[in-house]
Amino acid sequence: ISHRSGTNHPSSPPLPHPSIPCIPRLPLLGSLPWLGGRLPPHLLFTRLVNRYGSLYALYLGPHYTVVVNDHQHAREVLLQRGRDFAGRPSMVTTDLLTRGGKDIAFADYSPLWKLHRRLVHNSFTLFGEGTSRLQEIVLSAVDSLCVELLSGGRRGFDPSPAVTRAITNVVCTLVFSTTYRHGDAELQEVIKYNDGIVQTIARGGLVDIYPWMKVFPNSSLRKLKDCIIVRDRLLTRKLEEHKASLSDGDPRDLLDALLKGKTDRSSGSEGELITDDHVLMTAAEAFGAGVETTSTTLLWILAYLLHHPEVQDRVQKELDEQIGNERAVSVSDRGRLPYLDCVINEGMRIRPVSPVLIPHTAMTHSSIGGHAVGPGTRVLVNMWSIHHNPRHWDKPDLFNPDRFLDDKGQRVTPSCFLPFGAGPRVCVGESLARLELFLFLSSLLQRMSFRLPDGGPSPNLQGRLGVVLQPLPYKVIVTPRAGWEGGAK
Ligand code: HEM
Repeated sequence: ISHRSGTNHPSSPPLPHPSIPCIPRLPLLGSLPWLGGRLPPHLLFTRLVNRYGSLYALYLGPHYTVVVNDHQHAREVLLQRGRDFAGRPSMVTTDLLTRGGKDIAFADYSPLWKLHRRLVHNSFTLFGEGTSRLQEIVLSAVDSLCVELLSGGRRGFDPSPAVTRAITNVVCTLVFSTTYRHGDAELQEVIKYNDGIVQTIARGGLVDIYPWMKVFPNSSLRKLKDCIIVRDRLLTRKLEEHKASLSDGDPRDLLDALLKGKTDRSSGSEGELITDDHVLMTAAEAFGAGVETTSTTLLWILAYLLHHPEVQDRVQKELDEQIGNERAVSVSDRGRLPYLDCVINEGMRIRPVSPVLIPHTAMTHSSIGGHAVGPGTRVLVNMWSIHHNPRHWDKPDLFNPDRFLDDKGQRVTPSCFLPFGAGPRVCVGESLARLELFLFLSSLLQRMSFRLPDGGPSPNLQGRLGVVLQPLPYKVIVTPRAGWEGGAK
């Protein structure tokens, strides 16, 4: 196992504890010959539960890896002993992407990472959460999306490019205060390099399991490097512009908040410091972690609504009763739209976009389910199997938002529902993502109805695993609801 310098991992490889059942392995190949088939990891790991139980180990190439498929064990890893398992492995592609871990998601646990994560968290709060600015940004993107979708006409079309554009625009405004018009060349550039990164990272899997492969020519790796150059050129320009115009007033956006926080001595200045590279990588990560995840979640929910028109009708009934068609939905309406909230949760349960989270590593001697786990061990939390466990979810393959309501119609959040992870590595963007999902979905369904083109196929619900689990492209027909013919007021 390769460790970054500066961390306190021991250099010796971790010793598997005999009591966690371990799938056999061969030198170099690891357990690959025993995994068989071409299933994506979350499904393969779920299938292996039948044979090895919910907690087992395997070798991914040379890496001893524990797979957790049960929510009690997941809560131990993420929450109860979250600190023990808050490390991240070093990987070829993500090291390239993040200048050797100067980001949040892929950086290993260290005092500097903690400081950086706290700064990002505070910056989100300072700039967005709790202020109406964030809502304004999202609602402006919602209006543009609604106008665009409704101008799609009555012919079936793929909603994905418009949804991705809208969410990208939210992140661009949030991070560096630029809001692009449809067709803007710079926006196209952002979407293009982001997509290139997403596609190549998804294909980089082998390189990450077998790091020695990086010495061989690899066209994906080359494409990834090209996209990173374009990304860094654009973000560096934005960063320099921000530095030149930074003032004492309130931060204009996330870049301002990070630049101010970075120089604020109260945020801690022991040892290493947050550098411009960290600020740049954080901005880049807002796109990497914040666009594909949120837009894909919306597209999954739309796909399920096409399969379940009765759910769409019920959300629209709730919206008509609680909001009407005279005004737009706002964040303060959230408490009045419980069913809509359940639809969002059920979408994230049945199709978690990050089905095995991001790999964790043990930082110290610890345990899972009473079994000893050594430092350096990789841990994969299979949220897919947790969200589909028939012992905890009645008919887990059925899209049924009511499972998030109790007998009295009150919202409930089962302890085996963790779409954003939990603990020290919980998604930093959770509240932003929830705000976006709520405002986008409520506004779309208030203003328009979605149905399948006549005779057209229903969306395929199997999905395809890239960096995130995404639905295959599908087509919709959009019709305006009364009072919203133009898409926005
Ligand atoms: C991490 C889910 C949106 C930023 C994660 C993790 C999950 C997740 C499962 C990994 C947790 C772990 O490894 O234990 C989601 C979902 C989203 C979403 C379902 C949308 C529906 C966002 C947004 C942002 C964001 C909008 C920021 C703009 C991050 C970051 C991490 C992360 C920085 C790494 C945290 C760390 O390693 O400490 N997210 N996310 N995410 N997410 Fe999100």
